[in-house]
Amino acid sequence: MAVPSPLANRTLNQSELVEQAKALAADRSHDDMDLGTKVDVLEAAMMELLDIQIMKPVVGRVASLATGGLPGASGRWLMGDDPRLPAMPEAPTLMDFFERRLLLDKRGGNHLLQSAKLAMENGLPEHMVLARLLHDMSVICLIRSDHGHWGAQLIAPYVEKEVAWAIKYHQALRFFAAPDLGYEYPKSYLQFFGEDYSVPPNIQREYEYARKHKWYMSGMQICLNDLYAFDPGKSVDVREFEDIIGRNFRQPKEGLGFDGSPVAHMWRTIISPNKFL
Ligand SMILES: [Fe+2]
Ligand SMILES: [Fe+2]
Repeated sequence: MAVPSPLANRTLNQSELVEQAKALAADRSHDDMDLGTKVDVLEAAMMELLDIQIMKPVVGRVASLATGGLPGASGRWLMGDDPRLPAMPEAPTLMDFFERRLLLDKRGGNHLLQSAKLAMENGLPEHMVLARLLHDMSVICLIRSDHGHWGAQLIAPYVEKEVAWAIKYHQALRFFAAPDLGYEYPKSYLQFFGEDYSVPPNIQREYEYARKHKWYMSGMQICLNDLYAFDPGKSVDVREFEDIIGRNFRQPKEGLGFDGSPVAHMWRTIISPNKFL
């Protein structure tokens, strides 16, 4: 397949770019390539179509550097919006972040929606539906490591304290069975981390603290249906939560990322995750 002139493609919209890059990458991939290599081929095709090189997200950069460095580069670096992602409006709302970022990850996005839907069906109060809707945001679009802490911090200025608390501590609570509540240690964790895995002391301490806290049950509400919110056959529309978001999330009028709050930079990182600086 002939490579189209990059300059001619500066006007590609997001879906055209993805489609053309996939076609180009399919042409260049072989069956004996592993998945990681195929992803690299796809990324290279996109950069070629855009005539610009794009920095990989810098989280975890130290590990890349310690194990051999970053690939060589030439030309200018991307500093504006990432053309591979849908553009965000000037004053983005939480709904914009769902529609243009979180839901791009179908599995992760669906997990949030299903989890919140279960909370709604079980008659949980609105702020707890919101907590379930946002609980793994960080995993999906910011950072996995310590995702409860990052996720709680991200939303703290805009929600009731209990919502951020529940999100922060669900990370530790997930590791401890609560037989009185019918909550078991996740079977997936046995597979992910091994049967001999034991949590580090900070997670143990957070659990001890959370277990005695007045909002313990709010943290556990996130854990309780987490296990059942990965149904690939069930689809939930994010618009079902529009009113709950409206009543329980204080949307800044300047837009998330531009309100000068202590966490605005975290939202801007989600808007432009691959800027060079
Ligand atoms: Fe989680
Ligand atoms: Fe979850």
